[in-house]
Amino acid sequence: MKTETQRKYFRFPLAYRIEHWVMVASFTTLALTGLVQKFAQSDISIWIINALGGLTNVRIIHRIGATVLILEAIYHVGLLGYNLFVRRYSPDLLLTREDLRNALHTFQYNLGWRKERPKQGRYTFEEKFEYFAIIWGTIVMIVTGFILWNPIAATSVLPGEFVPAAKAVHSGEALLAVLAIIVWHMYHVHIRKFNKSMFTGYLDAEDMLEEHPLELEALNQPVEPEPDPDRPRRRRVFLTVYGIVAAVLVAVVAYLITFEQTAIETIEPIETVNVFAPLPPEPVQIVSFDRPLNSWEDGVGELFATRCTFCHGARMPLSGLNLTNYDAAILGGTNLPAITPNDPENSGIITKLRSGDHPAVLTDEDLAGLEAWIKAGAPRE
Ligand code: HEC
Repeated sequence: MKTETQRKYFRFPLAYRIEHWVMVASFTTLALTGLVQKFAQSDISIWIINALGGLTNVRIIHRIGATVLILEAIYHVGLLGYNLFVRRYSPDLLLTREDLRNALHTFQYNLGWRKERPKQGRYTFEEKFEYFAIIWGTIVMIVTGFILWNPIAATSVLPGEFVPAAKAVHSGEALLAVLAIIVWHMYHVHIRKFNKSMFTGYLDAEDMLEEHPLELEALNQPVEPEPDPDRPRRRRVFLTVYGIVAAVLVAVVAYLITFEQTAIETIEPIETVNVFAPLPPEPVQIVSFDRPLNSWEDGVGELFATRCTFCHGARMPLSGLNLTNYDAAILGGTNLPAITPNDPENSGIITKLRSGDHPAVLTDEDLAGLEAWIKAGAPRE
């Protein structure tokens, strides 16, 4: 004989558990392939997108995940209907005033204002909140997802603004859902106490007493099931009606996900193109600066500003060399130190220009002036 605390209470039949795991699989797939698109610039996203074989693959996987989720939603509506109309289960997932009271009670308990947690039934308010968050979230995601999936069809009925609005809603709700799962679900189901009922189907008496004491009380005083001769008839009616509704819904989904040529095909894939950026064929004409080059402030800066910053400006400095200000000039270019104080041999502005292998040239006098400036320690002022 098992003692009372070892007794196990059946909570979720296999079909419910399979449903849950289908949800987990599609939700995780959607979150992963969606978030890498939302945060496409981050290194992790780029890594994941590449690992999945590129953006097109990521988007196709996202749509497969979405289709699975939608089919699961259609199945779930059927299950709900079956439980309510055929099995005549009480709608114990509905939110009631009692749940709001329990939420407040738990809040007070968490603050230490109350000694005990509220006594709850088959579904706690934490579970109901999460359930309705998923229902609400799934509806929002399906509607906005379809607008993004079929933007051309959507805008033939709706104003164009709906597409960016749908995108904002879709991505914001996605982030909210992922955070809710990480914070709310993880905390209540795995951290506060590991609830294994979605794995095994059972909860033990201790957990029942803690989480669902009212349900436990009810289970311990079983009532004789009333005879229900009408059930086979209700079952027939329901299955016929639901069968038709589900078939129509599946057909609509199949139509909606295939009929429009979507962005996947309409955007050309990125390809690498070689760009030809011509350099002046002849050295730029030698114009003597012909002024003393005593310091950056007195001469040198202006020489660069009038002869070099056309190519070595701040915006797109050629060879990484920005000669518009002293500090940037000292930092040098991609390959050479441009200015090494006291050491003209290690200063690109002298060696590069003397090498004859540079598009712009200076007169010998100006070069000598720059060399003398460097020898003097390349003073700023
Ligand atoms: C017409 C455009 C142009 C002008 C004007 C110009 N440069 Fe350049 N500069 C280049 C290009 C292109 C390179 C890269 C060439 C190469 O790597 O062989 C370069 C490279 C350099 C480098 C080497 C940078 C490195 O680290 O690779 C130095 C130093 C340099 N220039 C100094 C000057 C100075 C000083 C002036 C003004 C007197 C000047 N340049 C004016 C086009 C220009």
